[in-house]
Amino acid sequence: MDTQDNLILKIATIDELKEKWDYEIKNHKGNIHYLQAANEAIRETRHGNRITYIAKINNQIISDITVIIKEKGILSESKYTEDLISNIRVFLCDIRTIEDYQGKGYLSKLYKYVENDLKEKGYKEISLSYDTNNIKNKIMYTKWNYTNFIRSETRTSNNTTYTYDYYYKKIDILN
Ligand SMILES: CC(C)(COP(=O)(O)OP(=O)(O)OC[C@H]1O[C@@H](n2cnc3c(N)ncnc32)[C@H](O)[C@@H]1OP(=O)(O)O)[C@@H](O)C(=O)NCCC(=O)NCCS
Repeated sequence: MDTQDNLILKIATIDELKEKWDYEIKNHKGNIHYLQAANEAIRETRHGNRITYIAKINNQIISDITVIIKEKGILSESKYTEDLISNIRVFLCDIRTIEDYQGKGYLSKLYKYVENDLKEKGYKEISLSYDTNNIKNKIMYTKWNYTNFIRSETRTSNNTTYTYDYYYKKIDILN
């Protein structure tokens, strides 16, 4: 746990994870996908397959980052192929800062905490993907040295096709 200016950086407990997902579900008006994602997140965390890191101010969760550390979840089909997760490589997903706190550097602070913790746990590389139309994410991830291209993937949702690029970085290269 890291504390600075009233900011707490830590790994979420199951109760904090539920709090994060309750916020998301409420924010998305009870959308079924968020309910399913919440159940999956809690189940996979309990089984040690993923870690959610959080930033808190005044006891409120303001930013979170989830890292998938095991390729084979308890679900029947793994979503994460071997080019994304291995003994040394973990997959970073679901980054978020709540609206009122965006653009103030909190995600960056939490991200540095995540990288240090993963390094201490012995991981060497982090992979991730982003929608190529999301320029802000592209700039942010390039700045953080996610420059080793893995592959591209297209997905279609509501008749719109999205392209996702996958990259990885070596943890030792400091951001
Ligand atoms: C993307 C998001 C997580 C960033 O969180 P944040 O707390 O606002 O980010 P920070 O203020 O810590 O900035 C993170 C980095 O992005 C850069 N950045 C911030 N705003 C930016 C902008 N408008 N354009 C380009 N870069 C920007 C910062 O310079 C910083 O880089 P640094 O570490 O080198 O300083 C947040 O805006 C968010 O939750 N957005 C909605 C959900 C989303 O898009 N999630 C990502 C896809 S899953």
